[in-house]
Formats: sequence, structure tokens, C-alpha cells
Amino acid sequence: MYLFKDYQLALETAIGDLKKEASPEHLYRPVQYLLSLGGKRIRPYLTMMSGAAYGANLIDTLGAAMAVEVFHNFTLIHDDVMDQAPLRRGHATVHEKWNLNTALLSGDAMLIMAYQSLELYPDTVFKQLTSLLSKTAIEVCEGQQYDMDFETNPSVSQEDYIEMIRLKTAVLVGCALKMGAIIGKASEKDQVALYDFGIQLGLAFQLQDDYLDAFGNQETFGKKIGGDILEDKKTILYHLALKKATPDQRKSLQFLLGGEANLGEDQKINSVKSIFEDTGAKSDVNELIQHHANMALLQLEKLSISTAQKNRFVALKDWLMQRTF
Ligand code: IPE
Ligand code: IPE
Ligand code: MG
Ligand code: MG
Ligand code: MG
Repeated sequence: MYLFKDYQLALETAIGDLKKEASPEHLYRPVQYLLSLGGKRIRPYLTMMSGAAYGANLIDTLGAAMAVEVFHNFTLIHDDVMDQAPLRRGHATVHEKWNLNTALLSGDAMLIMAYQSLELYPDTVFKQLTSLLSKTAIEVCEGQQYDMDFETNPSVSQEDYIEMIRLKTAVLVGCALKMGAIIGKASEKDQVALYDFGIQLGLAFQLQDDYLDAFGNQETFGKKIGGDILEDKKTILYHLALKKATPDQRKSLQFLLGGEANLGEDQKINSVKSIFEDTGAKSDVNELIQHHANMALLQLEKLSISTAQKNRFVALKDWLMQRTF
């Protein structure tokens, strides 16, 4: 059984070597910059863990693990442009440190590099991995577009919102797990269950991200606190707040996130956060996170792997649920 530090060493070595000192510098330096700022690396760890659960060598899962992490980092560069975000992993975002053109092209190059990481697999596995990545990537684009559309749409339901986050975030977590299962030649049934585990874990993870964006600590979270509020994102906190809001609170919240509020940044963030607190949304979100985490665990029961192997996924889920970053 591999240890967590085995995954870490293999992955960080591969990341450190990626396009190291390659030229043109202005294309590849942002790639190394963002990747070397770290992050939790949960997607590649999930790929390596699921491969290992079916007996794959760590080295055999590394190409797919790199593909999902490089793809994820590509989405972050473009997402930060779309969200006008100044901070990522505690440092300036790529478009802030360089410029918009650099963010676009370095991001594009990373998308291509993600596919290149899969070229080492034999034809049949390569075909399965690339088609899964393509399906996932197009869904992430769909999710990102819904996310943008929802900023200016006041009548989005909580159900629509959950579907949006399934697309923008959860499918990549499912993809990461399924890639490991494909490499480990898991049964179709196990591949599906692992993918579904990833969807539920990914939903819990994105709901938590919404919570941390408003109520986290900038030092540990590494992103600007209140960034979603400034962009008028109707995150899960908004949906939960509306359920319990008084007519006055509802009116205020809809005005504050309605695109017309002409307030200073801090005033807008603090006013919205007070409504999230007063309506109970801040605490209610934890129940929903827990619900999806429990749904994730149900999927694990369907797997034909040992309890010890299942427990590794449970431990990762538990670790994620306590995160502050
Ligand atoms: C950020 O993902 C984007 C979301 C889906 C919320 P992570 O929280 O996994 O970011 P890093 O890679 O750990 O920085
Ligand atoms: C995450 O959405 C989805 C993708 C990056 C594709 P967010 O916009 O919530 O992610 P963060 O909070 O900026 O990391
Ligand atoms: Mg963002
Ligand atoms: Mg976004
Ligand atoms: Mg976010």
C-alpha cells in the first residue's frame, strides 16, 4: 500500500520538471508559477489512490494524475480572469501578475499539456482517458457559463445552482477518480460508483468553497474573502438565506447582489455576510455539506475493494471536510 508521502513525492517531482526553464519564458513561467504555489492536489491524489485501490503502480497513474492537476490549474487561471480575482493560493493571480493575454495563452497551453500527459498510455487506455477528459472538460465549460449567467439572473433555483456546481466542479473530481479506476482495470460497476463518489464529494467540496469564500480566513484560504459577493454570485449561502429571510432581508439581499448596489467593497461584503448570518444560512450550509458527504460514503459501499482501501477514501473525505484552505 502506498503512503501519502509517496504520492506527494512522485507528483511534486513531475510538477517541478514540467516545462522547467522552457521557452518562451512568458508562456511557461506562469505555468510553473501557479503549479508551484501548491494547492491541496486533491484531484491527482484521488487518481493515484483509486489506481492503487485496483493494484495499479503509482508510476502508471502519474500521467493521469498530472493530466487532472494541470487541467485543474488551467481552469483556475481562466476562472480568475472570469471572476476578476486578485489572489490565488495566497499570491497574485496570473492575469494580475502578468496580464490578460498571458493568462489566456498560458492557460490554453496547460489544457493541451494535460492531454499530452496522457500520451504515454497504451491505445485502448489512452482512448478511454481522453474521451473521459474531453467529456469532463466540456461540462466544466458548461458549468462555468452557467456560473457567469447566474450572476445576473435573480430567478435561479437551488436545484439549478446544484446542477451548475456539479458541472463546474464535481465532474472533475469524478473524472480524477474514474481515471485511476480505468488504469487499474476496475469493473464498470466500480468505475461508476467511484465516479459517483467523486460527484458527491465534489458537491460537498464546492459548497464548502462557497462557505469559505465568505467566512474563511484569507491567510489560510489564499483567496480574497468576499470575492463571490463582489461578483454578485448567488452561491449556496444566498439560496439558503432566501429560504428563511424576512421580506426585508430578502429585499436587501436581492438588492445587494442585484448589480445596482453602489457600495464600497467592505460595506457590500459585510452587509451580505450579516444577512447570511442572521438568516441562519451560515450554519445551515453545514448540513447540506454533510448530506453530500454522506451520499459520497454510500457510493463507497458499492465498491469491490477491501475495507482498508475504502477507509483511505473515507480518511481523505474527512480531511477535506475540515479544511480551512
Ligand atoms: C479551487 O479548487 C476551485 C474549486 C473547485 C473550488 P481547489 O480548492 O482544489 O484549489 P487548490 O488546487 O487546492 O488550490
Ligand atoms: C470553481 O469555481 C470552478 C472552476 C475553477 C472551474 P470558483 O470560481 O468558486 O473557484 P475559486 O473559488 O475561484 O477557486
Ligand atoms: Mg473563482
Ligand atoms: Mg468561478
Ligand atoms: Mg469559489
